[in-house]
Amino acid sequence: MEDMIAVEGLRKVFHTPFRRRRVEAVKGVTFNVRQGEIFGFLGPNGAGKTTTLKMLVGLIRPTAGRARILGGEPGAIDIMARVGFLPEQPYFYDYLKPAELLDVFGQIFGLPRAERRRRIDSLLDLVGLGDAKNRVLRKFSKGMLQRVGIAQALLNDPELILLDEPMSGLDPVGRKEVIDLIASLKDRGKTVFFSSHILADIERLCDRVVILHKGEVKHAGTLQELLAQGDRKEIMVNGTLEDGWSGRPGIHAVDRVGGAVTRLLVEAGASDGVLRDLLDARLEILQVADRRISLEELFVADAGTGPVGAKEVAG
Ligand SMILES: Nc1ncnc2c1ncn2[C@@H]1O[C@H](COP(=O)(O)OP(=O)(O)OP(=O)(O)O)[C@@H](O)[C@H]1O
Ligand SMILES: [Mg+2]
Repeated sequence: MEDMIAVEGLRKVFHTPFRRRRVEAVKGVTFNVRQGEIFGFLGPNGAGKTTTLKMLVGLIRPTAGRARILGGEPGAIDIMARVGFLPEQPYFYDYLKPAELLDVFGQIFGLPRAERRRRIDSLLDLVGLGDAKNRVLRKFSKGMLQRVGIAQALLNDPELILLDEPMSGLDPVGRKEVIDLIASLKDRGKTVFFSSHILADIERLCDRVVILHKGEVKHAGTLQELLAQGDRKEIMVNGTLEDGWSGRPGIHAVDRVGGAVTRLLVEAGASDGVLRDLLDARLEILQVADRRISLEELFVADAGTGPVGAKEVAG
């Protein structure tokens, strides 16, 4: 079975005014999305998520590398007919009612009138807007508009759905609704690829993720694999440690925690060795506990200073 998305060495350099500045938004990214997966494309602001998504739907062309979608070229009409896309900031003509707006899109897709009506009714129910059918979009909350956008992305009954930040701007209830909606799409055999910079929600949702930072893939794999990297042991020691300890491989942090107690945060795989060394140094071990750090912590730690944008580089 061919991959739903195959990206290899994808690169995008933007040249800003008069080519005086160069922004390398995507720096040789490689990943693939398989059929039936929910795939999370994660990264802080400016990581290059939207730029990559735009290359996947053919809105912009890569500087180098290759993107294939459903085995074909991004943007090709026959391919895009099988793809749903929610852009980052969808804009809708807001004097329309949701069914009217979706009807316009349905006509663009060439769906016959009866089929449009049937799909639009069931989609509005699916995204939880069945009761808001007769209100104009102008009166919709951000969460409701986001759901209209998702309904639009599903109108052509796509095999592959690409969503750029589908949870952004939503309150926790709205986020939960979108998460449940994405999960239900998977149940219906769809493949979903979505970007997000909010990690907390995603931990439960995705089969696999890519974590992008400053245009580069920092992690790729199943959530279990990624979270396993966050497996830590917390070792409490009675006493003060010399400076050398904090630099040792496998030791992530050494902190004084009140009185003479020191806390070490150690990679699970390295903990036996560290414990032996601590005993050799005649230190009293007070406690050893498992501590799994969340994807959020792992990710922010990796990003160095936390969520930051890609740096502009002089060209
Ligand atoms: N058309 C453009 N011209 C110049 N620079 C651009 C352009 N589009 C994006 N960039 C830059 O490329 C980098 C990546 O932007 P991108 O929008 O892909 O990030 P993102 O991961 O989607 O971020 P966010 O979470 O804020 O949506 C940023 O530094 C951005 O300023
Ligand atoms: Mg973006």
